[in-house]
Amino acid sequence: SIVRRSSVPGVSSVSRRGFASGSAPERKVAVLGAAGGIGQPLSLLMKLNPLVSRLALYDIAGTPGVAADVSHINTRSEVAGFAGEEQLGQALEGADVVIIPAGVPRKPGMTRDDLFNINAGIVKSLCTAIAKYCPHALVNMISNPVNSTVPIAAEVFKKAGTYDEKRLFGVTTLDVVRAKTFYAGKARANVAGTFLCLLPEVNVPVVGGHAGITILPLFSQATPTANLSDEEIEALTKRTQDGGTEVVEAKAGKGSATLSMAYAGAIFADACLKGLNGVPDVVECSFVQSNVTELPFFASKVRLGKNGVEEVLGLGQLTDYEKKGLEALKPELLSSIEKGIKFANAN
Ligand code: NAI
Repeated sequence: SIVRRSSVPGVSSVSRRGFASGSAPERKVAVLGAAGGIGQPLSLLMKLNPLVSRLALYDIAGTPGVAADVSHINTRSEVAGFAGEEQLGQALEGADVVIIPAGVPRKPGMTRDDLFNINAGIVKSLCTAIAKYCPHALVNMISNPVNSTVPIAAEVFKKAGTYDEKRLFGVTTLDVVRAKTFYAGKARANVAGTFLCLLPEVNVPVVGGHAGITILPLFSQATPTANLSDEEIEALTKRTQDGGTEVVEAKAGKGSATLSMAYAGAIFADACLKGLNGVPDVVECSFVQSNVTELPFFASKVRLGKNGVEEVLGLGQLTDYEKKGLEALKPELLSSIEKGIKFANAN
């Protein structure tokens, strides 16, 4: 085999089979907030993704260490660390996907809205740089409150003249991940056989927004189907809505979800990369500009493609319980959206 390998000068059999430049296009991913609780495991997971050829890790401090560490992993992407605002442009230049987990996390007793002032300012300055250095990148917004930070990003991009609603995403994947896990756990008892083995194939759409009651899991559309009682559906809905708080309380002052969020963020970024690369039928729930309801932004299933959002899918058939939940969430979601828009235009 040594002889065969050396018959193609300069190209090892690994790079030919695995990630030779012909097999997947060059893609640069930037993580902003890469030294944080979410940022570090998310950077690790993006380093494992064969669709990434360049990984830029940016934070206000600490990224040289994270980048050196992650760069030793023997996967495709080249890793570079950028620390401090003067290096932000370099981190962003040429990025296809920018993932933003920068900001402060919740502590017990805080709501996502309590984070507003600090995180809104951080998101605004990062998005100003995105508009300047990589205006065509797909932006994956993780920083909370997502219900407000996504509208802030939209306003910043509009002012810069770079806004493209197809390229801005609020990452709500963690709600979907939780809904799937909790549903599978509950449904297992109600379905004969091997439901647990099917866990990766469990699907639950989650719509609305990304805080408390604005998170609306549609368990009536969950697959595989299970015969759950109204009480069980109600309990699952509440647990999904309060999933973040469950982790905040268990961490008792040491932050919010980081590992499950990194997983969810990596799933969503992977879907964006697949869409960019022309893989058909890539569908994930996300908080995007939307006509699905009268609200300007709304989370629902989205088909991803070469330009980002290819199609925002509708809600499908809702049960009375879900219809009630939808009407109940609208005022709160609208006020969070308006709060974001107001902040962006006032500051
Ligand atoms: P963390 O405090 O551990 O990390 C945040 C990182 O952001 C730190 O390394 C910090 O230096 C960095 N940072 C602060 N200002 C920055 C700036 N201007 N530019 C670049 N980086 C900056 O917090 P954690 O736990 O990683 O959470 C990050 C954010 O993600 C929070 O806003 C949190 O609420 C949100 N989150 C969102 C979830 C979702 O489902 N969308 C779930 C969990 C958390």
